[in-house]
Amino acid sequence: MTLLVKNGTVVGPSGTFVADVLVDQEKIVALTAPGLTQDADTVIDASGKYVIPGGIDAHTHMELPFGGTAASDTFETGTAAAAWGGTTTIIDFSVQRTGESVFDGLAAWHAKAEGNCHIDYAFHQILGGVDADALKAMDTLVNDEGITSFKLFMAYPGVFYSDDGQILRAMQKARDNGAMIMMHAENGPAIDVLVAQALERGETDPIYHGITRPAALETEATSRAISLAEVARDTPLYIVHLSASGALAKVAEARDAGRNVFAETCPQYLYLTLEDQLGAPGFEGAKWVCSTPLRSKHESHGRDLWRGLKTNDLSIVSTDHCPFCFKDQKELGVGDFSKIPNGIGGVEHRVDLLYQGVVDKKISLERWVETISTTPARMFGLYPRKGAIAVGSDADIVVYDPDGTTRISVDTHHMNMDHSAYEGYEIAGKVDTVISRGTVLLQDGKYHGKPGHGRFLKRDLSSYLV
Ligand code: URP
Ligand code: ZN
Ligand code: ZN
Ligand code: ZN
Repeated sequence: MTLLVKNGTVVGPSGTFVADVLVDQEKIVALTAPGLTQDADTVIDASGKYVIPGGIDAHTHMELPFGGTAASDTFETGTAAAAWGGTTTIIDFSVQRTGESVFDGLAAWHAKAEGNCHIDYAFHQILGGVDADALKAMDTLVNDEGITSFKLFMAYPGVFYSDDGQILRAMQKARDNGAMIMMHAENGPAIDVLVAQALERGETDPIYHGITRPAALETEATSRAISLAEVARDTPLYIVHLSASGALAKVAEARDAGRNVFAETCPQYLYLTLEDQLGAPGFEGAKWVCSTPLRSKHESHGRDLWRGLKTNDLSIVSTDHCPFCFKDQKELGVGDFSKIPNGIGGVEHRVDLLYQGVVDKKISLERWVETISTTPARMFGLYPRKGAIAVGSDADIVVYDPDGTTRISVDTHHMNMDHSAYEGYEIAGKVDTVISRGTVLLQDGKYHGKPGHGRFLKRDLSSYLV
């Protein structure tokens, strides 16, 4: 079976050109001048449209147990929603909870995902209990399981938290086996004090979730993580869901010094704010409770994050997709913001929301593709199988229509959520056609994807490090 995507404008980090893309079975087999390739079993006309590598969302949490409930998207619903939005690979987080074995946590995650995914998927491993067994398991995961990155938490004491000694040991292990350490950088013990004091004062509304997680405690933790990584002989360090200007400055300083320090941000920090969303009247703001929290619009965070995307101090945009319904899930925190499950859903909208940055002239077309696909592939050991329109790469292709319009709403999205964090947003651009390993998942507004098409991807070590 061959498939030809003809006459499209192919966009990659190194440039933009008009070409025909020929696919045989699951792979891209040729890029030719327009019109040179004549026959194919299926022909897709991409004239006037962009042809980009399928989106890679390097940070999702399908079915994550959290705060007495679980994220509302299963691997089946969440990966279908991702496909609708032009994302053809997710990297989810398998979870070791404190007191559990890493291998049990990983097996549980494979059981949730296997046979259910519409698109390809890989795992990072969350370490919620760094001890001798967990450190040994890190080698096995890297060498045998295709899991080459590990997330640690400086936040959430009693749940996922690691102290500085545990973090240092895990970093030293990663330095030895070549893995990447991903860090949730917020000072959890200090936040817990602020949360308790706020509740004592009767400050229970959702906005206090943000107020008790001040930017300074993200900046402090980011700085500490960078120092610990330096002590661990410059272990590669990746700061997840970076939201604060001060934390960005710490990352930029380390990068300017030539350190192996990287960071991602998420669309919610580029578009949404403490006052306008988390501070919505009544309990409404619970929809936007996530950690790190949305930041104040009266400070420069949003503007600085867009700049960081331009300067490459922020390398990647992921969603941190962790949806909870308002009814019955977010509502667990009525009268006590600390009981609101943390997370925002957005896996369906990342490609569009970042394209809006191109329309608004905040980032270039090439940078759009780099931050949503190519760099995640390189950073997390999937390149060049993923993240490129290139001969030999998987035929994960999105045709994107710059003349289309995307209206975001709970009424039309495909995520298993009873609200949208971006309700009413209108994007000047639209996902037109989505292809995963040569199979057309979305075309002419019709969805053809199926659970079980998506395969687990064993990852190599990062090819992004110097
Ligand atoms: O609020 C968030 N981010 N929930 C998901 C878990 C995490 O910390 O990434
Ligand atoms: Zn986190
Ligand atoms: Zn710099
Ligand atoms: Zn997360």
